[in-house]
Amino acid sequence: MLRDEILDLKRAKNAVILAHYYTTPDVQSVADFLGDSLALSIEAQRTPADMILFAGVHFMAETAKVLSPHKKVLLPSLEAGCSLAESCRAEDLAAFKHAHPDHLVVSYVNTSVAVKALTDICCTSSNALKVVESIPADTPIIFTPDRNLGSYIQKLTGRDNMLIWDGACHVHEEFSLEGILALKKAHPQAHVVVHPECRAYIIAVADFVGSTSAILEYCGQNAAQEFIVVTEAGIMAEMRRLYPDKKFYPAPPEHITGIDCGSCNECKYMKMVTLENIASALRDEQPEILIDEPIRKAAERSILNMIAIK
Ligand code: 13P
Ligand code: SF4
Repeated sequence: MLRDEILDLKRAKNAVILAHYYTTPDVQSVADFLGDSLALSIEAQRTPADMILFAGVHFMAETAKVLSPHKKVLLPSLEAGCSLAESCRAEDLAAFKHAHPDHLVVSYVNTSVAVKALTDICCTSSNALKVVESIPADTPIIFTPDRNLGSYIQKLTGRDNMLIWDGACHVHEEFSLEGILALKKAHPQAHVVVHPECRAYIIAVADFVGSTSAILEYCGQNAAQEFIVVTEAGIMAEMRRLYPDKKFYPAPPEHITGIDCGSCNECKYMKMVTLENIASALRDEQPEILIDEPIRKAAERSILNMIAIK
């Protein structure tokens, strides 16, 4: 069986599988570590394994390679990109920096290694506020690439010296306010939990805003028994595993009419990782992530600056 083969290969090659919450339940079931972007970066840095198989998207595997240059890092599908990472090209950022030389660059980890190399400090959705607050109030900032996370942080900090890149995630931009309000009408006791990659008018109706890990924690600690989940549907598997007695309703995207969404709001890139391509990647030790050393070094600095803040 595929599962057994994966477990055997992992053991034989001293490999570890790091998976994001948005991957399928099948994939999550063979992972050694499941987490959000920040936790996965930290785990990639500290794992004693010789090989890291990243069950996630390209920028995550790149981050792992930047932090663990001597380990072999595999990504089962090189097609697994990210619409946020694609919305900020390194050459465009370089030109923008040139036009704003006094600005510090803060980039969400959902960026290519080339963008990270042009960045002063990275952030994830769980530490973006801390990262921006660590920068003196009179230092102007270029924030890339997520306009929604950037605007949310700008609102929380009240900073008027942030230039925000015009990028967005194809999943989180799609949620329907009408759909969320209809779900709330059907389940009035439910708390609305929202990822900060969502638009401001969706964040405005949230009971809680946070990264995938922060949302999971909120659902566990809060006395509420029902939650309307406004992030990628893959997280439902972990929610139901951790809190089997609570109820979770996935929020629908704009193209769905009605409130029965199932797993309709999915990141097409995260779903490109399958048990089949995990097994074949471990078997062939391909596709492997390789990064030129000068770029890796420059990107490492911005990621380590982030990890120092957490
Ligand atoms: P977090 O893992 O930081 O919650 O981010 C979600 C995401 O979109 C990952 O690509
Ligand atoms: Fe990128 Fe959005 Fe997919 Fe996350 S959910 S990997 S931000 S496209």
